[in-house]
Order: sequence, then structure tokens, then C-alpha cells
Amino acid sequence: MNSITIRRPDDWHLHLRDGAVLASVIGDTSRHFARAIIMPNLVPPVVTTADAKAYRERIIAAIPKGDRFEPLMTLYLTEHTDPDDVEEGKKSGLITAVKLYPAGATTNSHGGVRDMEKAMPVLERMAKIGLTLCVHGEVTTPEVDIFDREAVFIEEKLEWLRRRLPELKITMEHVTTKEGVDYILAADSNLAGSITTHHLIINRNAILVGGIRPHYYCLPVAKREHHRQALRRAATSGDARFFLGTDSAPHVDPLKECACGCAGVYTAPNTMSCLAHVFEEENALDRLEAFTSLNGPAWYGLPVNEETMVLEKQEQPIVYPGKCETEAGAITVFDPMFPLHWRVR
Ligand code: DOR
Ligand code: ZN
Repeated sequence: MNSITIRRPDDWHLHLRDGAVLASVIGDTSRHFARAIIMPNLVPPVVTTADAKAYRERIIAAIPKGDRFEPLMTLYLTEHTDPDDVEEGKKSGLITAVKLYPAGATTNSHGGVRDMEKAMPVLERMAKIGLTLCVHGEVTTPEVDIFDREAVFIEEKLEWLRRRLPELKITMEHVTTKEGVDYILAADSNLAGSITTHHLIINRNAILVGGIRPHYYCLPVAKREHHRQALRRAATSGDARFFLGTDSAPHVDPLKECACGCAGVYTAPNTMSCLAHVFEEENALDRLEAFTSLNGPAWYGLPVNEETMVLEKQEQPIVYPGKCETEAGAITVFDPMFPLHWRVR
């Protein structure tokens, strides 16, 4: 097969940042994707419907001319989030989901939730009005090894929340473990998972073998090979509970290449080429569309895109620019460590 046509894809987890970086990175997504769920972990975070409305306007203003792209906005859950404001955001059509960052789990998460009990009034309202909770599923307890943080979160926090509030729709974002995949497969309703491009391609060796490679460091951190294999099976299975959320997370190089580098992998420019490669390797090109374009809209109750995208396989490897230049500095693009032959026409 040298060419496939799929419905235009969506990205169900994306960081666009703000200001100069937003202006430079948005085209890498809007070129290929019709919609994306936009993460709210700005400095300061997007905590109210008014914040989300203002951020949405800045995003719309930055979309390159000629591209059709719809940002789907989220709110950053805090212990003080007002349930009425959340409900208003959902009713007005502005808010697609609310994001739970356990405090301290990742980039700019210090304003996140420490005590889940304090967030219950908002979560109960969300369950009532059918608004999805997107979860960064890692515990932050210092005693828990960083490679175990997702599995422990599932056991200690997610299971507790799902028992407490079974009506709440939860997206377990950027699943990185077999435990995460199995937990989603075992649930009969109200739980789905997004999977990133890079977690289908790298395991933890990419970060640590032969020298420390900061551009492969993200959170949740990539795990052992058998976890990557479980993610590949889930993504390519066609199971409607799994869909693409790239977690494309740009940081300028000086913030990655230093003594205490930021977490995040910038995959927006070459994600579709990488995914076509992965799905071809798994003999599952016929299921790429489900993962990138069908399962996500079904889960979020949105229509699928009418436009299509053609991916063509060419003999010569495609050369993507290794960097995205921004006014704030260069951002290194994800290197899958294999040549890419699938091009978006
Ligand atoms: O690697 C990551 N980068 N993981 C996150 O959860 C946040 C993100 C970011 O904002 O840079
Ligand atoms: Zn993220």
C-alpha cells in the first residue's frame, strides 16, 4: 500500500503555550489537524471560563491564514475551582474538558490538586452535566519511583475516584504502561485513554543509553519495552477507547539542554508521518483512521471531520526541519530514530 486516505485527524492532547511560542508552533498542528484539546498549564494557568475564552481568542488570532483549526479549550482544575463557572463554560460550548494535574506532577502543576476531596464538588457537577475529566495520572509521592508513578496512581487515586463517582467520564491521558492499558480495557464504561506518538516509538533506553538525551524526556516518562508494546497493541487494535493525544509539548532548547531540563517532546510537525510508519510496522494501516480521526470524536461526543487527509509513501526519506525557530529560541523536533517515508499530501 503506497497511499491511504483517512478523515482529517484531531489531537486530543496538545500544548500550544502562548505569545511568541504559540505563534511559531500552531502552524505545525493546524496544517494537519482539524481540532485539538488545548492544555491549560500556562503561567498563570487557565483556571476560569473567562481565562479560557481569552486564551482561545489568542490562539485563533495565531492560526496561519488559510488553515481551518478549532481549539477545544480546557480548564485547569484547582481546589478552588467554582462548579458554577465550569457549568457555564460547558453550557456556552467553550469548555470541552477539565484537566486534573496532581500538584507537582509536571510542568507548571504546582497550582493543581493536592487533596482530591477538595475538588469533589466540581467533579460531582461535571458528572452531572457530562463534562469529561482529563487526568495526568501520576502520583507525586517522593517515595514512589518515577517509573511506577502511573501504576500507583491507578491503584491509589483513579480507582478511588471511579468508585466514588462512577458517572464521571475520565480520559486517562498519555497512557504509558501496560497497567494503564489493562485498566482501561477492564473498565466497562466512562473510561478511555489517549496515547502519544512518541510513547509508541521510544522506550526508556532512548533517554538514558549512550548518554542522556533530554529531547526524549517527558512526563509520564517513557517506560520499559514491554509497556511500549502494550501501547502499540492498544493503539493499533481499533478499540474505541484509545485515541491519539500527541502531548506535543514545546520547550525552547536551553530549557531542555541544561542541568534541570523541562519535560516535553515536540512531535507536532512529524506526528502523522511517524504514526503511519508505526501502523504500517504493525500491519494496521487500516486502523490508523480509528486512532487519529474516529475514536476521539466518538468519546467526546463530537462529529467526525468531513475533510480527508492523504498519506503517501515515498521512496526517499522525508527530511523534516530538525528545529522549529521561534522568537524565544529554537525548539527541537522529535527524532524517531528511523527514516520517515510517509508524507502528508
Ligand atoms: O512532558 C510533559 N510536558 N508532560 C506534561 O505533563 C506537561 C508537558 C509540558 O507542559 O511541557
Ligand atoms: Zn501534556
